[in-house]
Amino acid sequence: MSEAGLYRPVRIGNLALEGNLFLAPVAGYSDRAFRSICVEAGANFTYTEMVSAEALTRDSGKTELLMRRAPNETRYAVQLFGSDPDRVARGTRIALERANPECIDLNAGCPVPKVWKTGAGSALTRDPDRLRILVSAMVRAAAEQSDRPVPITVKIRSGWDDRDLSWREAAEAAIAGGAAAITLHPRTKAQGYEGTARRELIGELAELVHARYPEIPVFGSGDLFSPEDARAMLAETRCDGVMFARGAMGNPFIFATTRALLVDGRYEPIPLERRLAAGWRELSLLVDDLGEGLACREMRKRFCAYAKGFPGGAALRANLVRASTIEEYRAIFAGAGLPIPALANSPPCV
Ligand SMILES: Cc1cc2nc3c(=O)[nH]c(=O)nc-3n(C[C@H](O)[C@H](O)[C@H](O)COP(=O)(O)O)c2cc1C
Repeated sequence: MSEAGLYRPVRIGNLALEGNLFLAPVAGYSDRAFRSICVEAGANFTYTEMVSAEALTRDSGKTELLMRRAPNETRYAVQLFGSDPDRVARGTRIALERANPECIDLNAGCPVPKVWKTGAGSALTRDPDRLRILVSAMVRAAAEQSDRPVPITVKIRSGWDDRDLSWREAAEAAIAGGAAAITLHPRTKAQGYEGTARRELIGELAELVHARYPEIPVFGSGDLFSPEDARAMLAETRCDGVMFARGAMGNPFIFATTRALLVDGRYEPIPLERRLAAGWRELSLLVDDLGEGLACREMRKRFCAYAKGFPGGAALRANLVRASTIEEYRAIFAGAGLPIPALANSPPCV
């Protein structure tokens, strides 16, 4: 397959996307400020962090902020987690009513005990019956709530541990329930985020799904830290699209550089100044949503990610993790001899 063919449009049910480079759902990170930066930088589709269906049904204002669309996000997915069909169905209706996303994804991969102990997240990858029931409840709820078709998709892991790899059964169950796409992060729940993702499993899933359900796309996630990683995943597994997670942190340009690699066969490295300018822009968007105090605390880890590769970066990061105000960030940047773009009208990052 030509490299140009690796970057291509995708359909999720009735939803037509221009390209196949997505921002993954990332708790504590893929809020609308970061998603907005990623859309500017070329992400074709974005996912909110996982939102508790139960919290939604309890009408939590904080939960609603997690679902809000960014102004430049013409298409996005809200990801829900839960284990009770009735609550997940109600969460689906509420998400559609309040945020009106183009797609709703069900989290069947979260390895955090607080989540899987309730039967949600990665517990669903080893409980195909429940997964099927949840997905069909969501599909029904979406059809009732919305006058346009809203695809329901599912993100799974490879299984519980190395002895219990249930991705095949989970994918079949999700599709039987009516899922319009499957994403596989081929690590087990036991692995968490350690070790390597077993990319070949994405290839096996894509082969199986393409043979039996040609209209259902398969997306791959795991260890995409460079444009070359994404190219390799698309080429080796023949999956329909890829999701960047940790690889986009501090480097939202990975969408544009990957697209350039896939389409033109090469890309220009992004200079540090441009990366840091994207960080300032992210801070400014976060301030709009959270206020200065919370935004500055949230930006600590994010600026550290943007500063990766900066000569003398360790000292810079040691200062960044203590910053609490915009003024403090300015002083830290000035002290390191780094440019500080004007916050209010810093230019879009691409
Ligand atoms: C901090 C963190 C939070 C995450 N939160 C979510 C989440 O809310 N929902 C989800 O489906 N996956 C979540 N993931 C998993 C990612 O979407 C992705 O599948 C995983 O990190 C593998 O991709 P990577 O190796 O490129 O980071 C999270 C990962 C990380 C590191």
